[in-house]
Amino acid sequence: MASLLPQKQTSLAVSAPLMCVKGLSVDFDIGKRYVRALHSVDLTIQRGETLGVVGESGCGKSITWLAVLGLLGRRAKISGSAIFDGQELIGMAASPLNAIRGGRIALIFQDPASALNPVHRIGRQICEALALHRGLSGTSAREEARRLLDRVGMSNAAQRLNEYPHELSGGMNQRVMIAMALAGEPDLLIADEPTTALDATIQAQILDLLRDLQADTGMALALISHDLGVIADMADRVAVMYAGRVVEEAPASSLFENPAHPYTQGLLAALPELEGPRRRLMAIPGAVPSPQALPAGCSFSDRCGYVEDMCHDGAPELLALQGSSAHFAACRQCEARADHAASIVLRHHVEMKVPSTMSSEGAKA
Ligand SMILES: Nc1ncnc2c1ncn2[C@@H]1O[C@H](COP(=O)(O)OP(=O)(O)OP(=O)(O)O)[C@@H](O)[C@H]1O
Ligand code: SF4
Ligand SMILES: [Mg+2]
Repeated sequence: MASLLPQKQTSLAVSAPLMCVKGLSVDFDIGKRYVRALHSVDLTIQRGETLGVVGESGCGKSITWLAVLGLLGRRAKISGSAIFDGQELIGMAASPLNAIRGGRIALIFQDPASALNPVHRIGRQICEALALHRGLSGTSAREEARRLLDRVGMSNAAQRLNEYPHELSGGMNQRVMIAMALAGEPDLLIADEPTTALDATIQAQILDLLRDLQADTGMALALISHDLGVIADMADRVAVMYAGRVVEEAPASSLFENPAHPYTQGLLAALPELEGPRRRLMAIPGAVPSPQALPAGCSFSDRCGYVEDMCHDGAPELLALQGSSAHFAACRQCEARADHAASIVLRHHVEMKVPSTMSSEGAKA
């Protein structure tokens, strides 16, 4: 197993979660029928927490959050619940949802150039966000836009306000996106592969910036990435997604030291060791199945080295590992490894027992 350990371990005071996603499912209209791409996903994020969401391409990392924010369009049928600071977002009317989106919940994407408007200067785009979410206009908006660019580490911030996205590098455009996200003073920032398009040095700078901003503002972060190194560096807690389901969820230290699900183990085995002897990397054979072609039972069964007959018998539930109230996995073998059926606790039963204040290791709300 790769000796990759998360560097960040914080103690989180836990009360009601900032975001509580429950039973979230997405069915896409593909012509004559609907196909389910997201299967009853449960996720929570505490205030100030960083939740890492990891998985290969096509596992449902993006559609989870696009569904929560009502950004999937009419061909998507969404069911379940997403309660943000006490407000149900699923089915919320467009106007209040628009106010929350980009305001208290901000998003940044992998490709900032495509998210920014190429024909408008940077300053105008940030000022529009400030007008929309904070009611600022004129000189005060401009001054705040300059301050935000300064805060995200842009040199010559006043001059940058007059430039167009194509005049900036990828890393600078990502900083502009982050400045726009900060315009609404968000409680939750959803960062979908925010550094994937950037080279390693700039990637590290942007991750440092996100960490600093979080420390300054106390905002929570949902960090979506296919890169376990990024997740290990940043996350308090990690949700591993596969084929539209959360298949493992745990505090970062527990996940990286003791991965339980064969898929997570496979992702870790595919990572190069930073120290120690060189070894051949073990890529997981095969590819993520499309939502139309999921194998019967466990969706990972056609790629799993531990598959047995029982694995084809219904999708495994996300259950607490024996001896833990915070580490969950959806795998028949994990169930079988538990000594006694009573030691397997359904995740929602654990949630109901969580006291109002506890450390991140026990955090499961
Ligand atoms: N509009 C759509 N219509 C039909 N299927 C879709 C649509 N959008 C996404 N999907 C499918 O939903 C599944 C999950 O997609 P999603 O974009 O969430 O993956 P992801 O984990 O974010 O992958 P990546 O790492 O490549 O961004 C994929 O199989 C994808 O093909
Ligand atoms: S349920 Fe079976 S096929 Fe699925 S991950 Fe566990 S051992 Fe592998
Ligand atoms: Mg994605």
